[in-house]
Amino acid sequence: MIILGIETSCDETAAAVVRDGRFVLSNVIRSQVDLHERYGGVVPELASRRHVTTIVPVIDLALEQAEVGPSQIDAVAVTEGPGLAGSLLVGVNVAKTLAFVWEKPLIPVNHLEGHVYANWLTLPGQEEVQEPSFPLVCLIVSGGHTELVLMRGHGDYILLGRTLDDAAGEAFDKAARLLGLGFPGGPAIQKAAERGRPGRFSLPRAWLGDSYDFSFSGLKTALLRILEQYQRRPPRRVTTRQPFPEYVAPEYGPNVPIADLAAEFQAAVVDVLAEKTARAAREFGATMVLLAGGVAANAALRQRLHELSPVPVRYPAPILCTDNAAMIAGAAYYLAQRGVRADLDLDVQAQLPLVTRTLIQTAVP
Ligand code: KG4
Ligand code: ZN
Repeated sequence: MIILGIETSCDETAAAVVRDGRFVLSNVIRSQVDLHERYGGVVPELASRRHVTTIVPVIDLALEQAEVGPSQIDAVAVTEGPGLAGSLLVGVNVAKTLAFVWEKPLIPVNHLEGHVYANWLTLPGQEEVQEPSFPLVCLIVSGGHTELVLMRGHGDYILLGRTLDDAAGEAFDKAARLLGLGFPGGPAIQKAAERGRPGRFSLPRAWLGDSYDFSFSGLKTALLRILEQYQRRPPRRVTTRQPFPEYVAPEYGPNVPIADLAAEFQAAVVDVLAEKTARAAREFGATMVLLAGGVAANAALRQRLHELSPVPVRYPAPILCTDNAAMIAGAAYYLAQRGVRADLDLDVQAQLPLVTRTLIQTAVP
C-alpha cells in the first residue's frame, strides 16, 4: 500500500511517500527556520502563509522523487492535529482536495502518533529497520508535547504521564533563548553542552514523587536566576509589540559560562526523562523503549537511556525525529489496517489529545 503523507502542523512544510508503513520512498521537508529565527520562535501567521506557497511544490517533489504518479497512490494521509490551527488548515485542505480529485481514501493522523511511527520507518538505502515489538514504552518529546506512553499494540496506548507545564523541546528552546544560543534551541544547547561541564552549576530535577509526569518550567526559572547573577545591565525593556514577551536578551555580560550552563541544563532535562522512561519500562514489562519527537534527536538523551533502560532502546534517524511527513504516511498505513478514514468534511483539531481519535485510553496506574 503506497500512501502520500502531508504534514503542516507547525513550521515544516512536508510531503512524503511511504510503502506499507515501513519503507520511505521520498521524504521532502521545507523548513521555515529562516522565517522564524529572528523572532526566537514560530510566528503562527507567518507559518501558515509560508505553507500556502510551499505545499504544492513540496508534494510535486515528493511524488517525483518516489517515482510514483497519482494512480499509484492508494491513500492520502494528513496531520489533523495537534498543532497550529492556521498551519494545519493548509495541509488538511490540500489533502482533502487531492483525495477528492484523485478519488482516494483520506486518512487523518494525529501528529504525536506520527512521531511514534517514525520508529517503523526505513530510509532509502538504509539497512531495514526491524519492526518494534509490543508491549513497549514510548517517550514522545517534541516542541509542543512531552508524553510517556505504554503501547500494547497498534493504536493501543495508555498514557502514563505528561508534562504539567512546558514541553521538553519548549524548555530547550526557552533556555537557548536565555543563553543567547538561537533557534531552534535543542540542537544549539546540545552543541554548546559538548564544550561544557554539567555539575559546575546545580539546576533542579523535578521528580514529582513516583509519578510519570514531568515539569520543566521551574528549571527554566532556576537558569534565569543564575544568569541574573551575571547581569551587568537590566534586560532590554519588553514591549507589547514584541512577539515573544518572555524574551530576555542575552545581556548578562561576557563572563557567562554558557557551555557549562547548557551542559547542566541538558543534563537536568535528560536525567528526568531517561529515569522515568526506564522505570516505566521495568514496571510495565516493556520489551523495548522507543524515543519519538524532535528531542529524540538529542545525543545525551539517547546515551542516558541506553545506560538506564533494562531493555533495548530505539529511536528514528535524526531526519525522522523532527517534523516530517514520512511518519504521517507511516502511521496512516496502520490506521488504514484498522479501517480509520475521514470524510471530506475533515476539520483541523488544533488541540487533539494523545494519541488517536478513537482509541485513546488515559488510565494512569
Ligand atoms: O517534533 P518537532 O520537530 O516539532 C514538534 O512537534 O514540536 O520538535 C521540535 C523540538 C524543538 O523544540 C527543538 O528544539 C527540539 O525538538 N530538538 C532538540 C534537538 N533537535 C530538535 N532538542 C534537543 N536536542 C536536539 N538535538
Ligand atoms: Zn512534531
